[in-house]
Amino acid sequence: MTDKPVLVTGAAGFIGHATAHRLLDRGERVVGIDNLNDYYETSLKEARLATLSSREGFVFHSGDIAAPNAVAALMREHGITRVVHLAAQAGVRYSIDNPFAYQHSNLAGHLAVMEACRHQPDFGHLVYASSSSVYGDRPMDGAGFKEDDAVDSPVSLYAATKRACELMSTAYAGLYGFPQTGLRFFTVYGPWGRPDMAYFGFTRKIMAGSPIEVYGEGRMARDFTYIDDIVDGIVGALDNPPETGTNRILNIGDSHPVGLMDMIATLENALGREATKIMRPMQPGDVTATYADVSALHALTGYKPKVMLAEGLGRFADWYRGYYGPK
Ligand SMILES: NC(=O)c1ccc[n+]([C@@H]2O[C@H](COP(=O)([O-])OP(=O)(O)OC[C@H]3O[C@@H](n4cnc5c(N)ncnc54)[C@H](O)[C@@H]3O)[C@@H](O)[C@H]2O)c1
Repeated sequence: MTDKPVLVTGAAGFIGHATAHRLLDRGERVVGIDNLNDYYETSLKEARLATLSSREGFVFHSGDIAAPNAVAALMREHGITRVVHLAAQAGVRYSIDNPFAYQHSNLAGHLAVMEACRHQPDFGHLVYASSSSVYGDRPMDGAGFKEDDAVDSPVSLYAATKRACELMSTAYAGLYGFPQTGLRFFTVYGPWGRPDMAYFGFTRKIMAGSPIEVYGEGRMARDFTYIDDIVDGIVGALDNPPETGTNRILNIGDSHPVGLMDMIATLENALGREATKIMRPMQPGDVTATYADVSALHALTGYKPKVMLAEGLGRFADWYRGYYGPK
């Protein structure tokens, strides 16, 4: 840890805001950037930001990471030597109708962040978000996805841009030397989560008494990872940069795939209400099952997810009722 602040991109986002809180908790100064775009309700992004703005050591800059020189100027101004880069256009389904949002935030945005890092004096470590979606849709053989598995068959544009970020980082680490870590996140959930994700959408409908649509006929399985566990991994990775010239890729998940129907039953329990379910086929771009082998991150940082799904969804349900009201 140095006394220089950490830049968190996507600081008004779900994972960015939780990461910023954790860094502030341990006495770091944090500079956040976010463009508060309307991919989902901006009021939720503003509310997350409000929890940070009142904290000592936090500075926020409203701006687009892909805008020429925006991140570079911020890094120069604050003497940044560590970056946690989480700003991106997320979501698989949105990419079907809005492909250029991914080109802008994920490709141009990632490049702008790397360009800023390479020109920054004494730059130490760039940690950036990748995604489990890079593994594509292939049968799991009983073991979790490993970092050296083949990742050359993305089934969504989102996944393709995340893989492109990894490859761009490998080129930049080789060319310019600054250490980088790409974290492949597996389905993250919890309080202050993202409304476009299934567990959140289901909660809205269950609370409103509306039926829920269960895609893939309920056969999908996901490695749900609680937000606090994810932040443990992010900060652990940040504190342990790889060697100069290296772009290290690490899975960050829970290692326990949960079937969609089990997740829904756990959520019904947490909300104290039963859902009316309408079964639907798979959607384009969705993958059947994902689950992470996290042994590399564990070996590096001692990372071990602690929060089980029932507890995590219980905390989410409490937050949801508090934030939106009991109805
Ligand atoms: N949540 C998950 O389950 C999950 C899974 C895999 C990967 N990821 C990745 O983790 C990262 C964080 O995800 P999240 O769940 O917090 O998403 P999020 O959408 O809540 O947060 C991303 C934030 O980035 C901001 N942003 C987007 N484009 C920007 C731009 N051009 N300039 C400035 N700000 C911009 C958005 O306004 C948003 O607040 C993303 O890179 C995402 O792709 C998340």
